[in-house]
Amino acid sequence: MIPPYRMTYDFDTPVDRRGTDSQKWQKYADRDILPLWVADMDFRAPPEVIAALHARVEHGVFGYARPTDSTIEAVLAAMQIRYGWAIAPSWLVWLPGLVVGLNVTARAFARPGEAVLCNTPVYPPFMSAPSQQDRAVITVPLALRSAPVPASTSTATGRWEIDWEAMERAVTPQTRLFFLCNPHNPVARVFGRDELARLAEFCLRHDLILCSDEIHCDLILDRQPHVPTGTLGGDIARRTVTLMAPSKSYNVPGFGTSLAIIPDASLRAQFVQATTGIVAEVNCLGYTACEAAYRQGEPWRQALLAYLRGNRDFLLDYAARELPGVRVEAPIEATYLAWLNVKTLGLKDPVAHFERHGVGLSDGRYFGAEPGSYLRLNFGCPRAMLADALARMKHAVADDRAPRS
Ligand SMILES: Cc1ncc(COP(=O)(O)O)c(C=O)c1O
Repeated sequence: MIPPYRMTYDFDTPVDRRGTDSQKWQKYADRDILPLWVADMDFRAPPEVIAALHARVEHGVFGYARPTDSTIEAVLAAMQIRYGWAIAPSWLVWLPGLVVGLNVTARAFARPGEAVLCNTPVYPPFMSAPSQQDRAVITVPLALRSAPVPASTSTATGRWEIDWEAMERAVTPQTRLFFLCNPHNPVARVFGRDELARLAEFCLRHDLILCSDEIHCDLILDRQPHVPTGTLGGDIARRTVTLMAPSKSYNVPGFGTSLAIIPDASLRAQFVQATTGIVAEVNCLGYTACEAAYRQGEPWRQALLAYLRGNRDFLLDYAARELPGVRVEAPIEATYLAWLNVKTLGLKDPVAHFERHGVGLSDGRYFGAEPGSYLRLNFGCPRAMLADALARMKHAVADDRAPRS
């Protein structure tokens, strides 16, 4: 049974995105496939954001834009209140997206042939951005270790951890950067202060710049705090580029309004230099959405988190009971993404198989997993749609006509 949720904001009523500009829905335009792949949610943005955009559109002049003091204050206040992070306005570099930020970081701080280190599985641009910029990528798999887990959050007993010995073996004298994803897409981990401190020590000892993608930091589902790497203190703050955005938490990624937060002036100058002439400016509507989200979106975000927790628990319960061969191995601590181990289904092409049964998922191999082994599921949608998708997945799991590897 689907548990009821009562709250001021409505996440249950479906918004029809078919026939719109949505990448997520266009992929399966003429097919009865529920898209649970690309990471945006099927919810309307906070009403406060929509109202601010209406007012901005009504103004009617859409020239080249810069953030106003009020927009900057809204960002700084959110960081201070949520994370105790005191940021100076001069540290901000606005960007039209975090993937742009990953590319610029690779370009700015490593020379052609030098390397970026990251842990896999991971959001694919962590690996593609360095290659696109003619930089090498060194990947070190995260280790799935058993760990005690609070019963309320998951039936899973694992924990994805950084494999420090493998990191020491992998790092080379040509390595210049470490790309961190925290909270992590796709394994949904929130790295704690101790692990981050150890990572900072690792980066300092190997003379690496730490680029920390924190786009999911406002989507923590459990109680643990988000620790921005920029708050770790000591020397690491001067070697840190933090990438942030309101995109994921307020469902406004289509505005491409993001930030690099770089405390060190010379690092910042190098970064800005690498953007010059090739990185587009943020647009006026993006700034409006960003300010309204950070300034007025908090009640909506809290309601969203409650709804996502409900979706996560529904998914975990359903998977454990009804989807043999689909395993969530570690708790989903943050994000609206679930990393599903489907190895024991033995499917040659799990994405194609689930598509045949009406569900569109992301293929784990693009995140660095072995082909046929993992899928990523996006549960940022009305619960009834999630329930429909999971019922379809149950049929898919039971279908033994699928080509097995
Ligand atoms: C970890 C991470 N970084 C960056 C992005 C994309 O950022 P943008 O749309 O700002 O390029 C995503 C989107 O899924 C993500 O999960």
